[in-house]
Amino acid sequence: MNIQMERHDRVALIYLYRSEALNALNTDLAEELITILETIDADPAIGCIVITGTETYFSVGADIKEMHAKTYEDMQSEDFFAIWERFTAIKTPKIAAVAGYALGGGCELALMCDLIIGAENAVFGQPEIKLGVIPGIGGTQRLTHLIGKARAMDLILTGDTINAEEALKYGLISRVFSVENLLPETISIAQRIASFPKIASVIAREAVNQSLELSLREGILFERRVFHSLFATEAQKEGMNAFIEKRTAQFNTTHNP
Ligand code: CAA
Repeated sequence: MNIQMERHDRVALIYLYRSEALNALNTDLAEELITILETIDADPAIGCIVITGTETYFSVGADIKEMHAKTYEDMQSEDFFAIWERFTAIKTPKIAAVAGYALGGGCELALMCDLIIGAENAVFGQPEIKLGVIPGIGGTQRLTHLIGKARAMDLILTGDTINAEEALKYGLISRVFSVENLLPETISIAQRIASFPKIASVIAREAVNQSLELSLREGILFERRVFHSLFATEAQKEGMNAFIEKRTAQFNTTHNP
């Protein structure tokens, strides 16, 4: 088993658990992670997912030992890394809680989550250039969208790493905590997200992610239409009625969008 899961009320906390290779993402780990996430995604009792590693490494990237002997034909016929498209199809909000190394595919895994929260010792980088390749799980695209061309190009062409303070300044991560507080604080943020109606959080993340795909005009229209659609939900009725009636909203969390 390369994955362990703990439940914290409506939050699923997933540990990457492949210590002999500092959580390098081989095919087995990817398959196990994505399979468990797909099961969680179908469970209305889970409103947010946290993915983490250890206090010194999140993941050091794709498994170089698994890849090194492959030929172009192998990579192309296996459509290597296409498995990660299943990860991006998971609708439940996902937070990467990163302490220590998030390198190569490890950084890209964090980038595929909806939020990245870092510990003070976090180290982010795309060192693939040092192996004679380039990022292959979306790094050239997502990192560039997130931190801009100048900084993404710098990291990808030099293979240099950045620390948590720089990652926060660049907008790669949204918050930083001490190593000891990373998990308790991230779980508490995840619990807050999970306390809101899942239909709203799923649609909110979808709308934010559409900003990477659509023109401003298309994105604004998409947002307005999905905003309208929320008026067909019990969540909107309860949320707004509770405000008018000056009481705390009691959301029904048994629906899965
Ligand atoms: N793949 C496979 N095994 C890896 C690995 C990786 N990416 N990174 C580390 N390991 C293994 C090491 O080979 C070592 O195993 P052995 O004990 O069997 O030799 C074990 O993990 C511990 O690693 P180190 O001894 O190197 O640990 P360290 O603390 O001295 O150094 C490190 C840590 C700086 C992160 C160093 O391991 C390192 O540079 N790793 C490679 C990082 C990297 O290049 N990542 C990009 C991978 S390619 C990619 O991700 C492509 C993509 O876009 C998806």
